[in-house]
Amino acid sequence: MTVLPGRAAEDPDAAAPADPLVLAAAWLPGVDAGLGPTMTLSTVGLDGYPSARTVLLSRFDGERLHFHTDSRSRKAAELAALPRAAVTVVWPEAARQLVVVGDVAPVTADEARAAYATRTRYLQVLAWVNDLEAAADTASRRRELWAAFERDRPELEPPDTWAGFALTPRRMLFWRGATDAASNRLVYERCPDGSWSRDSWPG
Ligand SMILES: Cc1cc2nc3c(=O)[nH]c(=O)nc-3n(C[C@H](O)[C@H](O)[C@H](O)COP(=O)(O)O)c2cc1C
Repeated sequence: MTVLPGRAAEDPDAAAPADPLVLAAAWLPGVDAGLGPTMTLSTVGLDGYPSARTVLLSRFDGERLHFHTDSRSRKAAELAALPRAAVTVVWPEAARQLVVVGDVAPVTADEARAAYATRTRYLQVLAWVNDLEAAADTASRRRELWAAFERDRPELEPPDTWAGFALTPRRMLFWRGATDAASNRLVYERCPDGSWSRDSWPG
């Protein structure tokens, strides 16, 4: 285990509320209102192997973690086949890692539209032009297509392929590193009655 430089361990009692969503909100300040950090999104590939990539955390609504993608993507196909995923958010400078495992469902059309509106212009355009055909083009042709799109489409609505998903946690692991103590993880599991069990794991 590599101990990352960062803050010393927090008071374990103060940092371990009964509800992990409260702790997640403290670790993700402001993410209810706009784009959050990047995270590794892990799905189960159609071949049964793990499938992982980086995505932006679009929003944490206090319960679910939202992310957005192209409905033609591999991850969308994988989630259609098995709507389960894990996301890993890491803050090396703060010696923190959050891993959330759970069930994924599409967001509502209104939620998807609102998320598109918070994206930068670059990401809004990207959602339109990032397809298989463009991927196979030369870099200079991709630049030409981008410039033409920018010129012709000053106002943008989400494309039909804009797809939003939200992960509802079943398990949440909060890793806290320290320079002067062993790292540990607060682990929460959702119980059948909707409450959370809480445990501490090493590593
Ligand atoms: C920093 C960073 C942020 C990214 N954010 C997103 C995102 O929010 N949504 C997305 O679909 N792809 C995003 N990507 C691209 C994905 O990592 C991935 O290449 C793409 O979505 C295709 O993945 P798939 O073929 O597994 O579906 C991002 C990549 C990087 C490096």
